[in-house]
Order: sequence, then C-alpha cells, then structure tokens
Amino acid sequence: MLDKLMRKKTAMSEGLLSDRIANVKRGQIPAHVAIIMDGNGRWAKQRNLPRIAGHHEGMKTVRKITRIANDLGIEVLTLYAFSTENWKRPKLEIDFLMKLPGEFLSTYLPELIEKNVKVEMIGNVEMLPEHTKKAIRKAMEATKDNDGMTLNFAMNYGSRLELVEALKKIATLVEDGLLQVDDIDDSMISSHLMTAHLPEPDLLIRTSGEVRLSNFMLWQLAYAELSFTSVLWPDFDEACMIHAMEEFQLRHRRFGSVEGEGTI
Ligand code: IPE
Ligand code: IPE
Ligand code: MG
Repeated sequence: MLDKLMRKKTAMSEGLLSDRIANVKRGQIPAHVAIIMDGNGRWAKQRNLPRIAGHHEGMKTVRKITRIANDLGIEVLTLYAFSTENWKRPKLEIDFLMKLPGEFLSTYLPELIEKNVKVEMIGNVEMLPEHTKKAIRKAMEATKDNDGMTLNFAMNYGSRLELVEALKKIATLVEDGLLQVDDIDDSMISSHLMTAHLPEPDLLIRTSGEVRLSNFMLWQLAYAELSFTSVLWPDFDEACMIHAMEEFQLRHRRFGSVEGEGTI
C-alpha cells in the first residue's frame, strides 16, 4: 500500500518535473552554465561518513546534471571540480579527488560519446597525477569531434593564476614588439584566457550555501547571473537545476544599459 502510494507520488513529481522542463525549454536557455559544485564534505559529515564518500556521491550528481543540461540544450556546462587552492587539503582526500575523473570517465564515456558531448578541461593539467591526465586526455580525444554540449571540467583551475598567465603572455608580446600597449583591451585579455574559445557564462550556480566565488572565473563572470542554493552538491538534482533555469528566466539582464526604450 505504502509502496503503491510512494510510486504514485514519484510519478506525480516526475510528471510535474517534465512539465517544468518543457516550460523552461520554451524560454531562453543560458548558453553557458558554470557550477561551483560545493558541499560534498558536509553531505558526508551529516551522515557520519568520510568526506570522500561525499565526493563519490557528488560524482553521481555530475552525471545527472550533465544529462539534464544536455537535454535542456545548454551549449557549455563548466563544472568546478578542483581549485588551485584545493591542494591545501589532506593528501588522502586529494588522492581520492584525483581518481574521480578516471572513474567518472571510464563509467560514463560511452554515454557521453553517444550523446555527442565534447569533454574539455580548463586549469593546469601539468600538475595533475599521470593517471588523472591520462583519463582526461583520453576523454577529450574520444570526444573531440563531437559538436553537442561541451562538458568543461575546471580541474586544478584558479582564476587568478589564469589571469597572471594571460598577462604574462600579453606582456611578452609587448616586450617582443609584437603588440602595442594601446592594443590591449577586453577582448585581447579574454582571448588569452583558458576559456578563449567559449562564450562567457550566462549563469553561475553555487551549491552548499556559500556565497562566494572562490577564485572561479573572476573575469568571465562579469555579467553572469548568480544563483546560490543551500542544497549540497550530492543532493542537487534535476528539480534544482530546473529551479535555477526558472530563476534565470525571470532575471532582466541589462549589461549596464537601461531596460526598454525612451528612458531619459
Ligand atoms: C566540493 O565539496 C568539492 C571540492 C571542492 C573538490 P567540498 O569538499 O568543498 O565540501 P564542503 O564544502 O567541505 O562541504
Ligand atoms: C570551491 O569550493 C572549489 C570547488 C568547488 C572545486 P571550496 O570548498 O574549495 O571553496 P571554499 O574553500 O569554501 O572557498
Ligand atoms: Mg567546499
């Protein structure tokens, strides 16, 4: 009886979710969604589990959200998986985190290929352990000709490091006489970032209740809409993603301009 009731309830909420998905699809879908996947440790702590259990659960959310993002027609999904500051964590936790790309990609690569998803990475790949590099490179190679959604992992990524490197490259061009100082503008800086080939994020989501950027895409997020939720990453699901889309569609983006015409 209870089981039947539960099934009915699940079917009902799934029905509602598909209505909401259909509705969201009629509106404007952000081309680039970036997510700071936070709260794995707290999710585990709430259950008296080690932090790594939270990271493992969080990997399942990555699959869920990749799927729905693809279904929604999002062009680029950037997931902040490991920051340049996360090296400060205990070695065992880091070792586990470095194994996740391999586990994720060995399990889901066939599905990503089938869905025409292109896997990319931003961040400093050189500092990653060999097995992590190998897994990421394999996935990137296997999906390089796909022209569906880009699934972009920010791995060993830090926005300040990215900016420092970009500025060094630009300074070298000036030093070598290949560029004038006056040629440096917005688009020149953007074109020297790791995201040069991607549109800027339209929507940033951060889970876990923290309201900060933690060194994530500081330049690229200049005009992104921000969505903060207290839901912990392992609990973030399709309904949460749809909620963020609904929220986005209610926002009025002005990019510094004024809304409507004829305003004095
Ligand atoms: C996010 O979860 C995953 C990474 C930063 C790698 P956390 O590990 O930061 O989880 P909390 O913030 O401690 O709960
Ligand atoms: C940001 O989360 C980095 C990632 C999600 C990969 P953190 O948990 O590392 O950020 P802080 O320490 O709360 O700022
Ligand atoms: Mg955290």
